[in-house]
Amino acid sequence: MPKILFIEHSGKQHLIDAEAGKSVMQNAVDRMVPGIIGDCGGACSCATCHGYIDPAWANKVEPRNDGEDAMLDGALHTEANSRLTCQITMTEALDGLVVRLPVSQF
Ligand code: FES
Repeated sequence: MPKILFIEHSGKQHLIDAEAGKSVMQNAVDRMVPGIIGDCGGACSCATCHGYIDPAWANKVEPRNDGEDAMLDGALHTEANSRLTCQITMTEALDGLVVRLPVSQF
């Protein structure tokens, strides 16, 4: 079972067992990781699943899609490695993925 490490802006870490085939957001919600809300259920219309993909993983996750780009344009505290985690499907190859959370999500 692949793992995802979520790191809150405070530095608090949450290492979870993730289910391949589900989105990174859904895995976080299922494990009650603080700061990942997923208000829209993964429909790419709320940005409450915003996270920063660790640079070591940036080229291993699926690229941003147009809808995600548009949502991130209106999100707070975006950075070059910002992603909507509902748009990233977890796979075995992403075992060890590191996602940091913005200061606005806790
Ligand atoms: Fe709403 Fe990701 S859960 S945009």
